[in-house]
Amino acid sequence: MPKIVLHKGGQVYHGDVKENTNLVVRAGIRQFPYPNLSYGCGMGKCAKCASRIISGGEYLPEPNWKEKKLLGAKLEQGYRLACQLWINHDLELAQDDVPPANSIPAETYPCT
Ligand code: FES
Repeated sequence: MPKIVLHKGGQVYHGDVKENTNLVVRAGIRQFPYPNLSYGCGMGKCAKCASRIISGGEYLPEPNWKEKKLLGAKLEQGYRLACQLWINHDLELAQDDVPPANSIPAETYPCT
């Protein structure tokens, strides 16, 4: 069972999640890391879920085209879009409240 450590706003949150879990999907149904994870569209369009991976990034798949488009050079700094990640291993990440260079407000993409 993957262990998640989320650094946010000077706090550290710990939780266990099932394998093949998406943190944004979990937060959407009010499970850890809710309410501490920032996210918006859940579809790789707003970058509000951008997270700096501290450890465990080696187990994540290569960034997909949405991450490359939204994060740009931030990928090199270890950022990923949490909504695009299905987690099968322990992961430590931080949301530093620094918006990625290419971020677009979620309001641009209303849920339908
Ligand atoms: S929640 Fe919008 S890009 Fe991840």
